[in-house]
Amino acid sequence: MNKLIIFDTTLRDGEQSPGASMTKDEKVRIAKMLERMRVDVIEAGFPIASPGDFEAVRAVARAVKDSVVCGLARAADADIDRAGEALKDAAACRVHTFIATSPIHMKMKLRLEPDQVLERAVEAVRRARRWTDDVEFSAEDAGRSELDFLCRITEAVIEAGARTINIPDTVGYNVPDQFAHTIRSLIERVPNADKAVFSVHCHNDLGLAVANSLAAVLAGARQVECTINGLGERAGNASLEEVVMTVRTRRDVFHLETGIDTTQIVPASRLVANITGFPVQPNKAIVGANAFAHESGIHQDGVLKHRKTYEIMRAEDVGWTTNRMVLGKHSGRNAFRTRLEELGVSFASEEELNAAFARFKELADKKHEIYDEDLQALVTDANLTANERIKLRYLRVCSETGETPRAQVTLAVDGEERSATADGGGPVDASFKAIESILRTDTDLLLYSVNNITSGTDAQGEVTVRVAKGGRIFNGQGADTDIVIASAKAYVNALNKVLQPTERAHPQLL
Ligand code: KIV
Ligand code: ZN
Repeated sequence: MNKLIIFDTTLRDGEQSPGASMTKDEKVRIAKMLERMRVDVIEAGFPIASPGDFEAVRAVARAVKDSVVCGLARAADADIDRAGEALKDAAACRVHTFIATSPIHMKMKLRLEPDQVLERAVEAVRRARRWTDDVEFSAEDAGRSELDFLCRITEAVIEAGARTINIPDTVGYNVPDQFAHTIRSLIERVPNADKAVFSVHCHNDLGLAVANSLAAVLAGARQVECTINGLGERAGNASLEEVVMTVRTRRDVFHLETGIDTTQIVPASRLVANITGFPVQPNKAIVGANAFAHESGIHQDGVLKHRKTYEIMRAEDVGWTTNRMVLGKHSGRNAFRTRLEELGVSFASEEELNAAFARFKELADKKHEIYDEDLQALVTDANLTANERIKLRYLRVCSETGETPRAQVTLAVDGEERSATADGGGPVDASFKAIESILRTDTDLLLYSVNNITSGTDAQGEVTVRVAKGGRIFNGQGADTDIVIASAKAYVNALNKVLQPTERAHPQLL
């Protein structure tokens, strides 16, 4: 009982952040990274949501060997069977089924009486047990549910075979003391509580997801559901790196161990930011660029005399030093392939490898030192553009003091080349206007941000663009050593998504 199980839901709840959807290959890359980090359970997706989600969960189930792979299912036969089917090739799998238990959800959303909800929950757990012994049950919106009913349903689903009972604060409404009280009461009051692991799943609407999760751990929860960088629906989920590093740094308080290899935390954070296009804020705990930077003279002086004066963790323990130069202009194809394989990227064919290697050589001509992050960006960029309807063929921008910037753009739209020229307030503005004048998508630009992937003026710029149309939000990303080109790539990537929205069910809206 001194082990804390880390259940990562970056690929499922994380993917529910508007604009953060990932392709099958991207999910496999992240899953391989989570496996390397020794995450106990990887929730790979919601298989019934769409055929693409099903395939992605199946691909993760086949690729991962050392972590349990989990699939989400509402408390309905079709959902559960779809999840079981997607997971059946996994070395170890878990079916995670859920139904809402709060008065407002039961009455307004499900239109069911509490007894009917309890019955469905029990049936769902029994059905899931046909696929695996490892069944998790979640009482959605448990944070606003009545304790007596939570106790009743928990006892019934454990009796039906659930081995993990997850208590989500779905809307991020709880505060630490109250949430800890719920967990403690359940463990004390449910007669068969000793037959299950209690888990928590907290959302961050009030910025309390990590605090609530940790308070629950102190009250007896032994699994925390979390995501890399705190990605997730709305304000996100509890951040994996914060939970893991708190438990490790404050062993004196928690007396628990996680199995996590913490040196993989920063690489995992970068990979997720890079793939989803959700950059990490510089002052984010553990993984923000400034998390270990001491700016004030007094702090610097203290750290130089004795690092523990101002540092409670070592940067290298969370993987800040794993950012090493791996390849350069003279590296060969084998070294390139080997390093990417270590990063969880494999190539389906020799042609794919050759194409990626050619892009690497192009990059190495512009930039002497190629880091892991550059390689990740290169692969992400290639994945992004592979199946796009619209491709950026050509961009020329004139920017001169005293003159209006002008951009000339050629796009391939379904294979047909179309060009336009536009003026703008700056080179990026002119490029975006030229692209929009070809595509006429009528979207609103909500966010434009540039980050350097590594340091130095020859670093690649990584651009994120967020656009909205008809109430839906789409993110685009692009990377290049030229930030105007990176910007145009990111914009085209976002507009590709606008023009090809994928229809998928959302677990909590149905
Ligand atoms: O927030 C939530 O309630 C969920 C459940 C499906 C676990 O994501
Ligand atoms: Zn959630």
